[in-house]
Amino acid sequence: MSVLSILEFPDPRLRTKAAPVTVFDAELKQFVADMFETMYAANGVGLAATQVNLHKRVLVADMSEERNQPLALVNAQIVAKEGSQVYQEGCLSFPGIYADVTRALKVTVKAQDADGKEITLDAEGPLAVCIQHELDHLAGKVFVDYLSPLKRNLLLKRLEKQRKQAASA
Ligand code: NI
Repeated sequence: MSVLSILEFPDPRLRTKAAPVTVFDAELKQFVADMFETMYAANGVGLAATQVNLHKRVLVADMSEERNQPLALVNAQIVAKEGSQVYQEGCLSFPGIYADVTRALKVTVKAQDADGKEITLDAEGPLAVCIQHELDHLAGKVFVDYLSPLKRNLLLKRLEKQRKQAASA
């Protein structure tokens, strides 16, 4: 397995729309394993293929404290949504930046696993947030797109400042 490098905002490749997965082979399984390794190495709770510059509809997540509930979704689509929630989100493509985003409270997702087997999943709360956030990545969207221009500029300035500090440290 290998840790892949994560694209950081404002890399234009983060705006790429992912294509559906049509071949469920050993290469896909290896890619899913690499995505988990990359997410765990970065202490993330979710990762979309877009963020590692592979533009296929694959996402991984693990919301558990113990980091032992890996979830891989291929070709996931939200088929039902209910309610709303405000949750403070972060993103591995925006290190150190957090913002409140309003999303559906519950989602029903139809997807496939890495073997191509069909899955239906009902998610609620933080897991529902994570799936919606990662599906946005696959559509070329990022969480700061939901913020007002004022709030977004403030956060992006903070991101720049932190990058400069990290570079000079
Ligand atoms: Ni993200």
